[in-house]
Amino acid sequence: MMNIKHILAIASAKGGVGKSTIAANMAISLSEEYKVGLLDADIYGPSQHLLFNLENSKPESFEINGQKKLKPIISQNIKINSMGFMMLSNQAVIWRGPMLSNALKQIIQVTDWEDLDFLIVDMPPGTGDSYLTVAKEIKPTAAILVTTSHILSLSDTDKSKIALQKLGIPILGYINNMTGERCPKCNELLDTYTDRDNKFLKDIKCLGTISRSIALQSLPNFKSARALKEIKENVTKLIL
Ligand SMILES: Nc1ncnc2c1ncn2[C@@H]1O[C@H](COP(=O)(O)OP(=O)(O)OP(=O)(O)O)[C@@H](O)[C@H]1O
Ligand SMILES: [Mg+2]
Repeated sequence: MMNIKHILAIASAKGGVGKSTIAANMAISLSEEYKVGLLDADIYGPSQHLLFNLENSKPESFEINGQKKLKPIISQNIKINSMGFMMLSNQAVIWRGPMLSNALKQIIQVTDWEDLDFLIVDMPPGTGDSYLTVAKEIKPTAAILVTTSHILSLSDTDKSKIALQKLGIPILGYINNMTGERCPKCNELLDTYTDRDNKFLKDIKCLGTISRSIALQSLPNFKSARALKEIKENVTKLIL
């Protein structure tokens, strides 16, 4: 019987704001003290098999009591499963909603995580079917939103907030990613919306900021995961 203490969804309706990067580094950061799993719930554009350099890995299947199960791939002491391990070529890019939900449902149901303190779920962008499937099939303990300080990202992330609230998933707070970028010519800070009065995400807690850095773009490891130290502490304080 699987026992997963905390399931944390890393989410934002906005694409490309760093959900997968943060999910990977959060998993590594938490794995220093806890038993951690990482589920890539992005069916159309999975990332974790690439981030962890596991492109040629295939989860082993086995049977328990007549039920087919999959062993997650273990990398850096983290149990990982991703649609990226399952797909031949890029079939999923043309899938419709129901196929997507089924694939996600299956990967959620058959992965044998055993005992975990944390399962980190890397969510796809948008607020569609996969949100409903994740909410129904894995019932996250809580969600963490990821945004940049740009108004377009804040506005989209606010939509994820509303979707999660409707689904009854508590939101721990948001992470402000890729801050501190400066103009290469005049050195002015480009986080133009940080101080502007905006109406988005006002009612949820900021769990911390992560500056734009090359270290976050390479394979996740303990060094890059250090950028999340403060955030990890804020998160564990809120849920443990
Ligand atoms: N703090 C950071 N500093 C520098 N680069 C970053 C940072 N965070 C993310 N990136 C880079 O930004 C790009 C997008 O990141 P990532 O794929 O994690 O975003 P995402 O929100 O998961 O995207 P998608 O919506 O497509 O799933 C990647 O190239 C990643 O390396
Ligand atoms: Mg992603």
